[in-house]
This record gives sequence, C-alpha cells and structure tokens, in this order.
Amino acid sequence: MSGAADGDIAVRVVAWQVLHGRNHLPWQQSRDPYRVWLSEIMLQQTQVVTVLGYYERFLDRFPNVAALAQAEQDEVMALWSGLGYYSRARNLHKCAKAVVTEHGGAFPETAELLATLPGIGRSTAGAIAAFCFSERVAILDANVRRVVTRVLGFGSDLAVAKNEKLLWDRATELLPTRDLQTTMPRYTQGLMDLGATVCTPRTPQCDKCPLNASCMALAQGHPERYPVKTRQIRRKAESWWLLVLRDSERGVWLQRRPATGIWAGMHCVPAFPDEGGLKRFAAQWKAQAECVRMWEMPTFMHVLTHRDLHLHAVVMQGRLPVTPSSDGEWFCSDRWADVGLPAPIRKLLASTDQQPLL
Ligand code: ADE
Repeated sequence: MSGAADGDIAVRVVAWQVLHGRNHLPWQQSRDPYRVWLSEIMLQQTQVVTVLGYYERFLDRFPNVAALAQAEQDEVMALWSGLGYYSRARNLHKCAKAVVTEHGGAFPETAELLATLPGIGRSTAGAIAAFCFSERVAILDANVRRVVTRVLGFGSDLAVAKNEKLLWDRATELLPTRDLQTTMPRYTQGLMDLGATVCTPRTPQCDKCPLNASCMALAQGHPERYPVKTRQIRRKAESWWLLVLRDSERGVWLQRRPATGIWAGMHCVPAFPDEGGLKRFAAQWKAQAECVRMWEMPTFMHVLTHRDLHLHAVVMQGRLPVTPSSDGEWFCSDRWADVGLPAPIRKLLASTDQQPLL
C-alpha cells in the first residue's frame, strides 16, 4: 500500500514539473516524433549537457527522418563520434530506414508499434508516445525506476523477470487519469526530472521532493536502498595494442572495425590483442619503409559498459608502404572528421599529430 492515492502522485509530479522541472531543453519545444526520438536515443546513458551540441549538429545535417535514412553510415557515425555507445548510432540509422520503408516516412503513433523499431526499447517507446501523442503509457528508464521503486517501496529483485513485469504494471497504475493531452508529457518529463535532480542514487534530496509525504522508502529511512537488483554486470579488463601508422605524406592508416563487437563499423588504427601481434605486423612493414621512427605512447584506459580497455599505442612513422594491409585507407588529418572515430582513438590521433613528422 502506498501512503497516498495513486492519482495524487501523478497530480503532484505534474504540478512540481511545471515549477521545478526542466522546460527549456531543445527537444521539449517540439512534438515531432523524429526530434523526440533522436533526443531520447542520444540521452540514453548520456548527460543532457553532452547531448546538446550533438543534437543541434545532427538536426542541422539531418532535419528529418528521410534525410537520415538516405545518409551514408559513415556520415552518421562521424556525427555521433564522441557520444559513445555506437550501437545507438547504427540502430538510429536502421530505424530511420525502417520508418521510411515500412511506415511511409512517418513514425508509428503508439508505444507498442514504436517498440518494434530497431533500437527502441519499451521505455524509449513509452517516452516518445507520451511526449508526442500523449499516450497513457509508462516509462522506466534508470532514473524513473529509482523514483518509482522508492515511492512504492518496491523491494523485489528486478533481476527477476516477473518482478520487472510487476513494476511495469505498478508504474502504469500511477499514470495520470485526467487531461492526458497535457498531463502525460508533463508527468513523463516530471519523473525523469525528479530522478535526475532530486531522487538521486546515493543522497536523494527528499526535502525537495513533491512525493516525500507518500514515499515508502523515505518512511523506512533508507531511500538509497532502492531499487534492488542482485545481478550486477561483471566487468572485464582487456588489453588492446594499437598501431598508429603515420606516413609523412599520406596521413594515418585507418581500418573499419568489424560489423559486430566493440566499435563495430567505426574507423580505428590497426588493433591487436597482444604486443606480439602488433610487433609482427609492424616488422613486416618496417622492412619496406624508409626513415622509420617508432615509439610507444603512455598506456591509457577507456571504460566501456562491460569492459575496461587498456590501450597501448605504438606509433610508427616515416615513408611507409602504399598499402600496409589489405583492408584500410590512408586518412590525412583533415579527413578524420568525415568518418566515425571512437573518442579515445580521436584523442590518440590528435596527440600524435602534435609530433613533428620527420
Ligand atoms: N533523459 C532521457 N530523456 C530525457 C528528457 N526528455 N529530458 C531530459 N533528460 C532525459
């Protein structure tokens, strides 16, 4: 049992959002599902401040779903470069194509249909349907999940599918029941804003929360104990050896990463699982090169969702063979912006670019 009628909770979230929520973000100025969808995908695992610039550049280049569907994948990846979680960009492109070919160029208008599109999960589908079409449908992204489990005192383990389903049902019961046209977008944004600014993971500011009088977790004295999820992702450490081949005239040798796995479809310098692999590859080309210098960069780490990548980079520069490997291409620095480069590779290239060529 919650300490307040469910309807009461929705009314308070809506009233709080009007006064204290975020109301001037660029994607809130439109009910165009293309713009809202783009913002929701960019905002997954990424903070608002980071997204703002990317969002604007993306819309400048691709003002509608048809423009995005027609683009080359490399251009999409290049505009996404630095935002991380690149499967989002690949799915974004796939989704735009599906909207054009399967839905006549218009996004479907229900959460259920939206969730059939590439890269749109149940919560993102709910957000788009609530924001654009005022559908009475729940969302449960990480921030909202925290707010809802705390208010309800929902302590069942969310690693168990049946509990997860129960939480969706409970979240649906909390939705507004009146004036849905205006309340659904406000309520949805309100829960997101509460989760992002007040109901934070470790030290929630319960004195500022419009739901504090009915929050079960607060009444129990330990709101930070929610949500409960036992199965944690296990992180692995992995070493990659990167070979930066720098030719005095042609630039840097880049290869496209395979279609699956880390940085799929992005461009990268040749990467090897161990030092021996890199050395053998480098030795082959060193023999055919002139004026070669080789040096190692300091090891640096890049954190991915499931993995810590320890990146060891070796730079080989001079007059190198025309084609160091069967797959790949030379890229001068003025073309690096045209392809999708993972942020750490972009930084690595920028730092080696500071070194004189000969
Ligand atoms: N995170 C996910 N969706 C969001 C939105 N619409 N506004 C702010 N942050 C968000």
